[in-house]
Amino acid sequence: SIIPVILSGGSGTRLWPLSRESYPKQFLALDSRTKKTLLQKTYERLLGLEGLENPILICNEDHRFIVAEQFREINTDPQAIILEPVGRNTAPAIAVAALQAISLGKDPLLLILAADHLIENNVEFQRVIQSAKIYANQGSLVTFGIVPTSAETGYGYIETKEFPTKENQKIGLEINKFIEKPNKDIAEKLIKDSRYTWNSGMFLFKASTIISELKKFAPEILNYCKIALEKDIEDLDFLRLETESFKQCPKISIDVAVMEKTNLGIVLPLNVGWNDIGSWKSLWDISKKNNDGNYINGRIIAEKSKNCYLKSEQRLIVGIGIENLIVVDTNDAILVANRDQSQNIGNIVKNLTSTA
Ligand code: GDD
Ligand code: MG
Repeated sequence: SIIPVILSGGSGTRLWPLSRESYPKQFLALDSRTKKTLLQKTYERLLGLEGLENPILICNEDHRFIVAEQFREINTDPQAIILEPVGRNTAPAIAVAALQAISLGKDPLLLILAADHLIENNVEFQRVIQSAKIYANQGSLVTFGIVPTSAETGYGYIETKEFPTKENQKIGLEINKFIEKPNKDIAEKLIKDSRYTWNSGMFLFKASTIISELKKFAPEILNYCKIALEKDIEDLDFLRLETESFKQCPKISIDVAVMEKTNLGIVLPLNVGWNDIGSWKSLWDISKKNNDGNYINGRIIAEKSKNCYLKSEQRLIVGIGIENLIVVDTNDAILVANRDQSQNIGNIVKNLTSTA
């Protein structure tokens, strides 16, 4: 069987002011073609997969009711909603989910998923997961590498040991290292070399495999996570990790904690129209635009304007002769940004306190 583990701890600051700490982007219906939220789509795109079980969710405790409600809406009862008192990045979150899965008395395959991705081709996505099962069942830690289409600086890159060929791609390539969010110059070089793929942040492995690798390479994480689970606070609907022990976990991603160090990692290529909607630019990219290249949502008048993302929750926005702008009006904040600099918003928002 296969249990999706959906990581939903991010705060999506780069999509401020729509995405807020109290209501991050994974809980929004950002894809204009459907009313489902990114979180709901993360699970629903798996339906039909052989052996699929209900998901394990792991999120910040502040978001517990949003997560519970969004799964109620799609008539799915998660096996567990695990609550983190603080974010400790993906390694502790995955460790806790794996320990919880094992404690249910089984050793299932865990499909680790981010809650904030869009995928166009679900059929191909399921096919690749299906083909990855053999390797995960044999004890591999499978990573999915996205074939890059541009010199993105918002993603991490995976470097494999060998150059891909038709044959070795099928059985997965060994991982050399991860390069987290390189600058533009480096990214330009990486995409010219076929050893590099984008790190999708999705993995498939047996719960017991990741636990034994964590034991080898990050024993303190495993330890604190065990205690945080054992001391969990009784709650009918949620599994609350104990604060003091979970806080002791170092803040570290699974890429760095395990995947770079292990000999069991392999990369399978994934070509499915993937996008992590990391910025307003990527949201503009995927949104349905009019003939002038404008995305328009709400009360908007745009004259002689091109290639803008214009969204208003209430007030009227009038744009005349504007180009390549992001204008987002919410109840308490307005963003006006150049489309190509929208990656920088996260840094500003991190320094805001009460308003963000
Ligand atoms: N539960 C939990 N706790 N989830 C977390 C935590 C945490 O402390 N930190 C991150 N996550 C979840 C996020 O909710 C998201 O689903 C996923 O892990 C990735 O985190 P992001 O914060 O969205 O990271 P990113 O987009 O900047 O970068 C990561 O993802 C890219 C692909 O989307 C990196 O892994 C990049 O290398 C990668 O390309
Ligand atoms: Mg992300």
